Amino acid sequence: GASILAGVGVVSGWPVRIRIVLAFFGTLSFFLQSCGGFLWTGGIDFSRRALSLCTAEALKHRSTRMVPFRWAITSAGKIAADFAHAVRQLEGHEVVAVAARSEAAAREFCARHARGAAAYGGYEAMFRCDRHGADACYVATRPDSHRALCERLIARRVPTLCEKPLATSVDDVAALYAAAAASRTFLMEGVWTRCFPATAKARELLRGGAIGDVVAVQAEFGYAIANGCPDGVRGSAATGGMGRDIGVYLAEKALLAFDSRDYDLADARGVAVLGRGDGVDLTVAASARMVGRDPKRRGGVASLLWTGQCDTPEVCAVLGTAGSLRFAATHHTPRTLEVTTRTSRTASRTEVLDFPEPGDDGAHRWNYPGSISLQYEAASVARAVRAGAVEAPEWTHADSLAAHRIVERVRDQCYAPTADVDAAKPGDF
Ligand SMILES: NC(=O)c1ccc[n+]([C@@H]2O[C@H](COP(=O)([O-])OP(=O)(O)OC[C@H]3O[C@@H](n4cnc5c(N)ncnc54)[C@H](OP(=O)(O)O)[C@@H]3O)[C@@H](O)[C@H]2O)c1
Repeated sequence: GASILAGVGVVSGWPVRIRIVLAFFGTLSFFLQSCGGFLWTGGIDFSRRALSLCTAEALKHRSTRMVPFRWAITSAGKIAADFAHAVRQLEGHEVVAVAARSEAAAREFCARHARGAAAYGGYEAMFRCDRHGADACYVATRPDSHRALCERLIARRVPTLCEKPLATSVDDVAALYAAAAASRTFLMEGVWTRCFPATAKARELLRGGAIGDVVAVQAEFGYAIANGCPDGVRGSAATGGMGRDIGVYLAEKALLAFDSRDYDLADARGVAVLGRGDGVDLTVAASARMVGRDPKRRGGVASLLWTGQCDTPEVCAVLGTAGSLRFAATHHTPRTLEVTTRTSRTASRTEVLDFPEPGDDGAHRWNYPGSISLQYEAASVARAVRAGAVEAPEWTHADSLAAHRIVERVRDQCYAPTADVDAAKPGDF
């Protein structure tokens, strides 16, 4: 507009000073519009991209994509094999080392499940060696060996993911987390349920008040151990039992409903069917009462059942004052979440959210159902380790300790001297 006016000024013989000012603004405006047009039509995009490539965040992202996260695996057992195949199919992850008590077992494992990984005879041989360059170690041995192995790894400051249960007593669990915190070493108990997208969604909904105040949670989980399970599960009253094997999955549900950031365990009780002769907890009905740290939070109860005597549907319901969340079958590997909210005094609406499991190339026959989803846990660990954290936000040290407290308190009552071990019902074997 200023340029046109300048032209009009020349034709009409306006004073020179006015024409110069108009010409100046015309030229300036032309220049600015050209720059604006360039920036608007892609120049800005390009400049932003060029800039973002230089930020530390972008460089970290780039290196995350280019450098694989390297895993060492301790044991050549069943879940170790599943983990190796889940990681094999996860972009940006690889298994670089495997240790078993015997070198032959480690070699066979590598040939079948982790081609190209270095095989070590004896766990210590792998822990001592730094040639494999692993970023983290996955401990998948029997529970009674977890504490000692994790301690050795933490002493070497190796980020560690240890299969559940992290240890066989609350004191041992606490000692491991204290050691990890003292040496600033990452440690996570492998409660992989927490890393599933369905669990993340449930936590988000609960935290956002989607079902109001949580009043109660109900969950069961069990399988018939007579149908085949690792020897260590039955074990003895001191080393085995179902509470130790799967109790943590039920406690996880109590802590999903009553987040360990906001609630404390007030009370826990249980009744059990104990194994004939060995006295292990075979079937347990447990109740826990959780209280909010903030007196404004009401708290509520958890009703949990675990068993080794039969298969169960594995359903979990979280009940709130304004609705409910329900994990349809197999809540420890959740893929479907039903969210029911009240729409009027007498009506409600249910939304079904599906979270399909990751794709599987079918090259491995899984030892345990849903193991391809161990990918979620591996990815969580990599994220936390790369961020320099000592714990994963999905299953923190506090979560894990709270879960072990619930299970231990219940187990302690079941093993009270008054329990009549010989009175175990049929169904024992
Ligand atoms: N996340 C899940 O869904 C899931 C599923 C199943 C099991 N788990 C957990 O994973 C861990 C391993 O279970 P698993 O089913 O893989 O068991 P498994 O097949 O019996 O393997 C256990 C491994 O423990 C090692 N081990 C160390 N000391 C041992 C001893 N004295 N006797 C026998 N084995 C000994 C052996 O390793 P070597 O190969 O070195 O000899 C064996 O391969 C347990 O903590 C279990 O609770 C988790």
